[in-house]
Amino acid sequence: MINITKVQEKLKEVLYPSFHKSIVEFDFVKDIEIVDNKLSITLDIPSSDPKVEEQLRSEISKRISFLGDINLDITIIKPKLPRETSSHGKNLLPNIQNFVMVSSGKGGVGKSTTTVNLAIALAQQGKRVGLLDADIYGPNIPRMMGIEGQEPIFLGKTIKPILAHNIKVMSIGSLIARGASLIWKGAMVTQAIEQMLEDIDWGSLDVLLFDMPPGTGDAQLALAQSLPVTSGVCVTTPQKVALDDTIRSMDMFTQLHIPIAGIVENMSGFICPDSGKEYDIFGKGTTQPLADAYSTEVLGEIPIEPAIREGGDSGLPITVLAPNCETSKRYQDIATKLWDKLIEVNEDGGVDNQSIQPTIF
Ligand SMILES: Nc1ncnc2c1ncn2[C@@H]1O[C@H](COP(=O)(O)OP(=O)(O)OP(=O)(O)O)[C@@H](O)[C@H]1O
Ligand SMILES: [Mg+2]
Repeated sequence: MINITKVQEKLKEVLYPSFHKSIVEFDFVKDIEIVDNKLSITLDIPSSDPKVEEQLRSEISKRISFLGDINLDITIIKPKLPRETSSHGKNLLPNIQNFVMVSSGKGGVGKSTTTVNLAIALAQQGKRVGLLDADIYGPNIPRMMGIEGQEPIFLGKTIKPILAHNIKVMSIGSLIARGASLIWKGAMVTQAIEQMLEDIDWGSLDVLLFDMPPGTGDAQLALAQSLPVTSGVCVTTPQKVALDDTIRSMDMFTQLHIPIAGIVENMSGFICPDSGKEYDIFGKGTTQPLADAYSTEVLGEIPIEPAIREGGDSGLPITVLAPNCETSKRYQDIATKLWDKLIEVNEDGGVDNQSIQPTIF
């Protein structure tokens, strides 16, 4: 006799496409119902890619068939398909569902660190994630992801991203290491970015994150014109001078018609490992008024923590090394909020943040 436990056991054998984890482990199975000779299974998955759905249906049907003759009905809940083109009518990467631009007005505030840990947190939640180091002036992603010195594979004209911590990664840094920097010589930033977008074979992804160079320059503009950027994340530190630059970064998102997902307040307080006491080094909680002014939210506060820096230097980010520590949980929370925002943007067809006129600054 078929029963719920037997069905659950079978579903534990169904791996989510592109992962080594099952749909049960990811908690994608939302309902199992058996009425007479009919078995209904409901899944809620984070991918709108039709191939993922197709693969799951076939795999589930195969596994369940071992339980005997039963009428199987599978419902798969998926995010809505996103906007197709940028405001310039272009989409150089139609197989990628969402694009997230991580920016800051100021250098050294922790953009790359935040992008890396958010990418890992999203992948840990079952999203198929890519990470493009678009910082053509000072690429740090290869070191932070532990792929420094690793050569990307060239297949004819296309370049295969490097897989690290379950994320497809590409950086101009990796290309330079191969001696391919000549490609970019004399090329304008815009051309370099467009060429990278066209030449890298990402396959299909749920989300591609861009680690941007500091400031509000050509790289940001080139991306916004080439792709329908789903959302922008702004990284800042809490001291007042950093906030001035953050305003510029938020204004840039607004001008580029990029819906703002929110602000990550990085280096927000320091928890002393010896005493557990919290110290306010750069200030704390100063970004909330800014978030309010742009009708967005503070996605989370990440403290100053030696393990974050060590993780960045060693290529084993804190979310990989200590996935259950307080800071990793905060990255997980930020990733969840970011994902919710992406879903919201896709459902609304984009928020019109042009109407936002910050008045308090
Ligand atoms: N919360 C944190 N706690 C401790 N160290 C941190 C934290 N965030 C970032 N760092 C460290 O600060 C340095 C700068 O961070 P990161 O490279 O991510 O900044 P960035 O904004 O990308 O810089 P750039 O503008 O040069 O691209 C790195 O050494 C990183 O490991
Ligand atoms: Mg950086």
